[in-house]
Amino acid sequence: MRTQVGIVGAGPAGLLLSHLLHLNGIESVVLEARSRAYVEGRIRAGVLEQPVEQLLTDAGVGTRMQAEGMAHEGVILRTEGHDHRIDFQALTGKHVMVYPQHKIVQDLIAARLAAGGQILFEAAGVSLNDVGTDAPFIVYEHDGRQKRLDCAIIAGCDGFHGISRDSIPAACRRSFDREYPFGWLGILADTPPSSEELVYASHDRGFALLSMRSPSVSRLYLQCAPDEDIAHWSDGRIWDELSLRLSCQGFTLQPGTITQKGVTPMRSFVSEPMQYGRLFLLGDAAHIVPPTGAKGLNLAAADVAVLTRALIPWFRAGETALLEAYGETCLRRVWKAQRFSWWMTSLLHRFDAHSPFERQVQRAELDYIFGSVAASTALAENYVGLPLIL
Ligand code: APR
Ligand code: PHB
Repeated sequence: MRTQVGIVGAGPAGLLLSHLLHLNGIESVVLEARSRAYVEGRIRAGVLEQPVEQLLTDAGVGTRMQAEGMAHEGVILRTEGHDHRIDFQALTGKHVMVYPQHKIVQDLIAARLAAGGQILFEAAGVSLNDVGTDAPFIVYEHDGRQKRLDCAIIAGCDGFHGISRDSIPAACRRSFDREYPFGWLGILADTPPSSEELVYASHDRGFALLSMRSPSVSRLYLQCAPDEDIAHWSDGRIWDELSLRLSCQGFTLQPGTITQKGVTPMRSFVSEPMQYGRLFLLGDAAHIVPPTGAKGLNLAAADVAVLTRALIPWFRAGETALLEAYGETCLRRVWKAQRFSWWMTSLLHRFDAHSPFERQVQRAELDYIFGSVAASTALAENYVGLPLIL
């Protein structure tokens, strides 16, 4: 089989890339290791920066998002029982759209299949070949047979644990890594969110976050050890701890039936370069951020916007400038999002290694943000999203 762009991975990056290429007359084939049901059922954060919301709407895949998504004009920072609202609308004129990632994936799959797009689910043993030449190809197994996909471009959208990043020779790669001394214990609960907006709480017992998936489904997290054993956390203990960390005058946390719980470690990671020959890395395949800044999905979408803008003139007229600058262009934004995510994480979490002095500095930085329009604006403009292409 032959196509113009071979895409590995049917997560947000791979699906959005396939859709945007199709809108611009460029063919692609998506190879996905998992089943359609698995991919469409993977519950993940969906806080969309306004530029990403606009990108999806302009690409014709925003109908359900606009109908079911929740536009949020601010977030609440809570510390020592007091709230401070970061007013995105007043400070930046923008908002964020809260819309679950798995619904974005469902919407994109539906759009691709309706347009006759090729998404090969349960494609096994994917390997990338000759990526340093002008005739790369992908070998994979599907329907019990080994197959080959010849393509002009390969897009590695296979996430942090995929094979694309390692298809760049180690001698040509450099990675930047930071593991945090804590993780997040996350729950999904059938209970209406106890706050209309997201609440980021900094507490002496540890960080907590109140988020949501819909008007009837809450998503909450509490800081825990990176190797925390979820078996030690009964539902009652989780709700009690969340109530303690989220406590504030006039606030009551409404418990409910927990339908999912799990512990995720936290890390910052960047692999450079994001391109090698005809292979281009997008999304989690190239970078990971701690979820505190809600940047993972948005960074993936930004990479897609940059690569799409570069591939259109390349396929139509052989113009190479934008394609040669792909990685450099993406990394300008990736590193700014890495900085923001690291900063939000460092600001709001409890570090056992912190001296009393460092803990006081954390308190002072929060107090400064609360009292400074400039500092609140800096947080707001990063949270609602820098321009997709810097
Ligand atoms: N072959 C084919 N598909 C693969 C392979 C492989 N060897 N390895 C991984 N995949 C698939 C995974 O099954 C997954 O569906 O690639 C997809 C990668 O999707 P994501 O991990 O969601 O990565 P990305 O599309 O970059 O989206 C980033 O997703 O993980 C969240 O927090 C992250 O919100 C961010 C967003
Ligand atoms: C979520 O809803 O899962 C979520 C929201 C905001 C974050 C992280 C996760 O910063």
